[in-house]
Amino acid sequence: MHRAFLLLLSILLSLGSSFSARIPAIIVFGDSTVDTGNNNRIPTVLKSNFRPYGRDFIGGRPTGRFCNGRLATDFISEAVGLGPVVPAYLDPSYSIRDFATGVCFASAGTGLDNATSDVLGVIPLWREVEYFKDYQKKLRRYLGREKTKYVISEAIYIISIGTNDFLENYFAFVTGRFKQFTVDQYEDFLIGLAGEFIRKIYWLGARKISFTGLSPMGCLPLERTTNVLNGHGCIEEYNKVARDFNVKLQASIEELCASLPGLRLRYNAVYERSLTIIQNPSLYGLENVREGCCATGKYEMGYLCNEWDPHTCADANKYMFWDSFHPTEKVNRLMAISTLNTSLAEFV
Ligand SMILES: *[C@@H]1O[C@H](CO)[C@@H](O)[C@H](O)[C@H]1NC(C)=O
Ligand SMILES: *[C@@H]1O[C@H](CO)[C@@H](O)[C@H](O)[C@H]1NC(C)=O
Repeated sequence: MHRAFLLLLSILLSLGSSFSARIPAIIVFGDSTVDTGNNNRIPTVLKSNFRPYGRDFIGGRPTGRFCNGRLATDFISEAVGLGPVVPAYLDPSYSIRDFATGVCFASAGTGLDNATSDVLGVIPLWREVEYFKDYQKKLRRYLGREKTKYVISEAIYIISIGTNDFLENYFAFVTGRFKQFTVDQYEDFLIGLAGEFIRKIYWLGARKISFTGLSPMGCLPLERTTNVLNGHGCIEEYNKVARDFNVKLQASIEELCASLPGLRLRYNAVYERSLTIIQNPSLYGLENVREGCCATGKYEMGYLCNEWDPHTCADANKYMFWDSFHPTEKVNRLMAISTLNTSLAEFV
């Protein structure tokens, strides 16, 4: 089965150049699932620009991606004939020349809710939008007004955010949100914020957007570790929140498309895909879907996942998760292929 995926990927890669005329750029907003290095440039403890992060990346280089290799957005960029990586907007080694075909505004640890980005002092979503405005100014100077308009309206936008609002904020009881809202109300609050965000980028010119639903976040190794009473199974309560949130998100997406002319906002169903992998690991050549590869795999991420830990696994391709919170490059590649085939299918 995973051979079939790899075959499909190579077909997509070889078709890459024929897509490029249609997609001028890939533009990314969100959290650590898509942050390609912005957190390296801000004062936060949530970083991953050191080994063994990046050990399977091009040149074995840590970049600030929370992964052993590339992220799904990198694979998507490559498959549509753009660069093999989506550069982080705050990385000074890139210029507007690079960003003209791909740019990432994401920040690990952020959420839809301002209170979430405050927890670890990362980039709030509203500032990602400010960066997007700043980017457009630079792009106009570089490409001119007409060409910039074309790039902004024809680019594909990938949004991946929301898990931290629940796991780092609401259910971590570190902000007042759990007192202020029931879970159901908090979901509605976040859906409202997601809608506001979509409206903002729509008025700034975005049209072709893939919005990633929540994954089965109760199955993240870190959450399993805390599930002592249930034999370290998935925390069903969190998975249910993800499913309920996703139902509301899809309804909101329909409403937004109905009210904003020309908007092509598409849901990306990662929940079902992740669960399929968790339930059938061997179909994908995986041996461990419960613990991360890095360190003990039970709770480490960021600075706790470091090269001095002797427990880190030898072959991350046998694992679903790289650290206790983030998928391996192998799973990111699978997710990229299915995203191209579903949520992005009409654009590529
Ligand atoms: C989040 O913070 C920004 C900047 O202070 C503010 O403009 C925005 O209204 C805030 N959003 C919410 C929902 O409080
Ligand atoms: C991609 O889509 C094609 C046709 O729609 C389908 O046959 C194929 O199984 C899909 N592959 C994946 C990996 O989803």
